[in-house]
Amino acid sequence: APVMPPDLGKCHYAHSSVCENLKCCPPYTSATPLRVRRAAHLVINDHEYMEKYREAVKKMKELPDNHPWNFYQQARIHCAYCNDAYDQVDFPTVPVQVHYSWLFLPWHRYYLHFYERILGKLIDDDTFTLPFWNFDSDDGMTMPEIFTADTSSPLYNANRDTSHYTPAILDYKYSYGNTAGSGETGKALVLANLCYMKKTFKQSLPLAELFMGDPLRAGEKADSTNGFGQLESIHNAIHMWVGTPECPHIDMGDFSTAGKDSIFFSLHANVDRLWHIYRMFCGNKVEFTDTDWLDSTFIFYDENEKKKEKNVGIQVRDCLKPDKLRYTYEEVPIPWMNVNC
Ligand code: C2O
Repeated sequence: APVMPPDLGKCHYAHSSVCENLKCCPPYTSATPLRVRRAAHLVINDHEYMEKYREAVKKMKELPDNHPWNFYQQARIHCAYCNDAYDQVDFPTVPVQVHYSWLFLPWHRYYLHFYERILGKLIDDDTFTLPFWNFDSDDGMTMPEIFTADTSSPLYNANRDTSHYTPAILDYKYSYGNTAGSGETGKALVLANLCYMKKTFKQSLPLAELFMGDPLRAGEKADSTNGFGQLESIHNAIHMWVGTPECPHIDMGDFSTAGKDSIFFSLHANVDRLWHIYRMFCGNKVEFTDTDWLDSTFIFYDENEKKKEKNVGIQVRDCLKPDKLRYTYEEVPIPWMNVNC
């Protein structure tokens, strides 16, 4: 195996004939505290937390437009990686696309991670987390009110389908144009969703591609009709369900604008949590051992760069365990696991 870098936290005296107990440890701040992401429908009464969250997003919106941490600038990252703004290196006709393949979950995991770290930095809170939209639980199947209740909140967004505000119930099979939908309402719709989630896991547990998306290698173009996994497909329905019903389906209904709605990050936090649950169900085994997946690399602005144009390159292999990125999810019941369908 290759030589790995040392654990910087375990630096000790160095040895030299010049003197004993030679001190040459470079400055090092130990790992950041573990951040616990909480359910959006449960944080609503935690006023201290909500105050911080609003404050962080407000600050992000107030940054100069060309600052990489600016709220709209961050949304443009999603647009750039999803609406063909970049070509793959050495393949000038093939766009970089982070949907419809096995890149979907890792890319969005990193995107949220850095977004969350930047928000925490702006309010000087290392423990700050984005809330997750717990849409796989009975109580979470409505649009989280932290994003809808107060139109003057920095978390509010006017470009949504307001007919889907609470008490409307989310439909995992929703799509524009009345072509789909589960055809259920009320409690039956909640049950249909839970059963759909259960089925998704059951069917895809034996084969990661079914859950995560198809392999995608350098030079290949992502297949927007068949390449995505079953989790991405549910996520697509939720994007559409939040976006405006009329065309263009802003903000959540279109990749180019989705990041402008704070609800995006809570939707994705739960998608990320479901990936984590999937992995736990699979005994924490790596989903694909293929180095074309593990070595895939993305670039993000992190929360520490003083020079605005600096950014970090980071590989899929380093994001496979949330605690390595120093976050985890609050434990909430998983009602679809034992539902009778
Ligand atoms: Cu990049 Cu929810 O999409």
